Amino acid sequence: MSGTLIPRDRTAHPEPYDPGYKTSVVRSPRNALLSLDATVTENTGPTFGHDLIGPLDNNLILNFTQGKAPAVGERIRMHGRVIDETGRAVPNTLVEIWQANAGGRYRHIRDTYFAPLDPNFGGCGRTLTDDEGYYEFLTIRPGAYPWPNRGNDWRPMHIHVSVFGSGFGQRLITQMYFQGDPLIDLCPIAHTVKDRGQLDSLVAPLDMAGSRPMDYLAYKFDIVLRGRRQTMFENRPEGL
Ligand SMILES: [Fe+2]
Repeated sequence: MSGTLIPRDRTAHPEPYDPGYKTSVVRSPRNALLSLDATVTENTGPTFGHDLIGPLDNNLILNFTQGKAPAVGERIRMHGRVIDETGRAVPNTLVEIWQANAGGRYRHIRDTYFAPLDPNFGGCGRTLTDDEGYYEFLTIRPGAYPWPNRGNDWRPMHIHVSVFGSGFGQRLITQMYFQGDPLIDLCPIAHTVKDRGQLDSLVAPLDMAGSRPMDYLAYKFDIVLRGRRQTMFENRPEGL
């Protein structure tokens, strides 16, 4: 891709076809990919206004009941910065998360796992990064859950994350894991990331300094998007 984005580092991302993760076999492309140039849409959109976000949108403990009753589970704060690979903050960008409840069950019609739904937990949240690229969520720690793959595979505790970035071409969808979870090393999905350093970057360390005594533990998760080259947009400098 030419345009204003720095080419994606393909070695850092999972291959679409990875037989250990069985559904990737049917989901992955059969033909060679075509490379298309970025257009204005990929380079500049989307932009988000603060009126898009409600006051409880980044609080998954309370947002499903609109503050009436808290969700069951270990209370945690997930927080960090969104930066690009040149170290520059990505401000005012939409960060969305979704996750299973404390028992490992999603509020989704196709999730039929035995663990019960929590009537006070929806499992989705969103927020915008501030001027320094900082974001935070309050939520509960999701449970591990089994999935049909090779007979007895379990997903480690994880939170799904989508970040839009300054342009659609920067969009990243990933997962955050938790420090010390032994299931990370057994998970075929986690191990579609072949580079150990890259996989470790998806594991959020416990952050006692960011926790609140008698309330919640914190996990720090910084998110790095691909970089943008120098360009001018709407009369303000963007890029390097
Ligand atoms: Fe999941």
